Amino acid sequence: MIILVAYATVEGQTRKIASHIGAQVEKEGHQAVLLDVAGPGFGLPGRMDAVILCGPIHIGRYPAQLVSFVANWKAELQALPSALVTVSLAIASKNKEEQEEARTFPRQITAGVGWQPDYFHHVAGALKYVEYDFFKRWMLRRIAASEGGPVDTSKDHELTDWLSLDKFVAGFLDFAARTPVD
Ligand SMILES: Cc1cc2nc3c(=O)[nH]c(=O)nc-3n(C[C@H](O)[C@H](O)[C@H](O)COP(=O)(O)O)c2cc1C
Repeated sequence: MIILVAYATVEGQTRKIASHIGAQVEKEGHQAVLLDVAGPGFGLPGRMDAVILCGPIHIGRYPAQLVSFVANWKAELQALPSALVTVSLAIASKNKEEQEEARTFPRQITAGVGWQPDYFHHVAGALKYVEYDFFKRWMLRRIAASEGGPVDTSKDHELTDWLSLDKFVAGFLDFAARTPVD
């Protein structure tokens, strides 16, 4: 199968996650086409058998380019087996209410844009304290402290559970292989 792995990123972690998914797809014997939706002049590959869309949450929202991408290609995406992978910090929160709130992020796409992916996966992103400017570092440290997350700002923290992501990808590929494209 040819699997489109489309993503948007602000700080780079979702690109890393999308690349990891792409590598996993290829390891399973399929072809992955990686697409940064904010890149210049992209086109959809001619033939696709499934799509995995990956987007991070910043200040409670997906990047505008990701939302526009879904709005522009909704009909094409809807015709394929599909998954939405949401990258956030809240999903790793020790506070159950925040975790539950993180599970509602995809509504911005399902209710907001009207695309209904078959599968949803949530993955924790990264705290890149070393790379943030002073204000971002202060803000993210406050958020992390309220969620019981890492607060040592002298280093970056990657919270992504790669194993769980791999299991998700394997399950999705099984589903896609069994699902005829419209
Ligand atoms: C300025 C900023 C705002 C963020 N806002 C949220 C948020 O509202 N909710 C959340 O769960 N995570 C939030 N995060 C965490 C990001 O989702 C996480 O760092 C993710 O790894 C970013 O992905 P990216 O590197 O692909 O942009 C925020 C991160 C930054 C830097």
